[in-house]
Amino acid sequence: MTAAESLKTDETALAQEAREILIANDRGGYTVPTAGLYPYQWNWDSAIVALGFAAFDLNRAWTEIETLVAHQWPDGMVPHIIFHEEVPSYFPGPSVWSTGRPVPTSGHSQPPVAAFCVEELLKRDQGPAMLERASAMFDALMRWHRWWHDYRDPDRLGVVAITHPWESGRDNTSDWDEALEAVDGSNVAPFQRRDTSHVDASMRPTEDEYKRYIALVEFGRSLGWDAGKIAEHNPFFVADPGCTFILLAADRAMLRIAHALAKADAIEVLEDWISRAEAGAHHLWDPSQETFTALNLRSSRHSVGVSNAALLCFFADVGSTDQKRAMLGHYRRLRAKTRFSVPSHDPDEAHFDSKRYWRGPVWSFMNMMISRGLLAHGHVRDAKELWDDTRALTHLSGFAEYFDCNSGTPAGGDVFSWTAAAWLHYAAEGAPWAPGTEPHGQ
Ligand code: GLC
Repeated sequence: MTAAESLKTDETALAQEAREILIANDRGGYTVPTAGLYPYQWNWDSAIVALGFAAFDLNRAWTEIETLVAHQWPDGMVPHIIFHEEVPSYFPGPSVWSTGRPVPTSGHSQPPVAAFCVEELLKRDQGPAMLERASAMFDALMRWHRWWHDYRDPDRLGVVAITHPWESGRDNTSDWDEALEAVDGSNVAPFQRRDTSHVDASMRPTEDEYKRYIALVEFGRSLGWDAGKIAEHNPFFVADPGCTFILLAADRAMLRIAHALAKADAIEVLEDWISRAEAGAHHLWDPSQETFTALNLRSSRHSVGVSNAALLCFFADVGSTDQKRAMLGHYRRLRAKTRFSVPSHDPDEAHFDSKRYWRGPVWSFMNMMISRGLLAHGHVRDAKELWDDTRALTHLSGFAEYFDCNSGTPAGGDVFSWTAAAWLHYAAEGAPWAPGTEPHGQ
């Protein structure tokens, strides 16, 4: 057997393993990220999971996102966690959030990748049955995107803010460090963390961070989870490059879907949102660091260093030619500094930690979006190298939640749904560069 043949056999086995992970984590209509550590439905996990299901069960893929949006709030928000069935071993559970929803949920959202995933599902089948599902989904997603634009960008800057680090999906990135200082965690009700009973504490947020996270939940709860009041008063209100760029990419996907479904009314609205985001991205640009950053809207301060979320500028297709050139330079610098790309945070930044969650480790599904953006911009070699790193990590360490960017060792939870789904999505699509041919990008 040649080396190429044995890799192919391996990859067939890996695809089978990935399918088994999704099937095992399926709780009937929704999929948990991994049993134990995350026993509920998470928002952006589910959207990515749908991409994985689409590789072998398109109907199940649609159901995943349909179950998610079925729990949309009256104001349009699609929550970050849906507590379908209470699992007492999870903290913070439904009673801590206390959102009063018929099926309990958390009180804020998560990055809106769903529209991008819906477009991918539609690419596979655009028959009448799928178009009907897409049409119902479209209206729900429009309401959700409007919620982001209205409540998380009240000053119409063209960037959207998060009100809790968890809302970004990048819980403990140093992007939030300065803003979290304004959150007093010293008076929170006593609690017992559960995450560190599943996973080594050195891979998780610190105790101090965790108290501030809980203080923010208590604050939102004290305002009855009113999105308008939270935008006005929350001590933490930070424009996030991740949510901003993902929302822009998702609005672009919605615009294409709107044309396909002849949703005339939505087209103008989407075009407005897109132009505002294109014009507003400069708010996230820090000229002194020459990178997109998070911007604390309470203090007007930029975060320090380059995150993997900032590298989503390619995926969102945003920024001037010079800005994109600078970001490509950063991407290549980050790649040169770590063994596996792309680290979730800048290895040249003081708080970098190769195995602590969003302060350095590699996340497969983020790589998927970044490499897709690089490819769309003609950076074929960079895109391919990034996918090759993701493949190498999967061969080495399986479907872990994330990976140490230097040792490549698996980190966080095991048998993780979105890592499996990202693998299946790529494997089923076939890499966009033809196998066996040399990439010829810049
Ligand atoms: C962690 C991650 C978040 C993810 C969740 C479930 O909180 O930071 O992005 O959605 O776990 O996997």
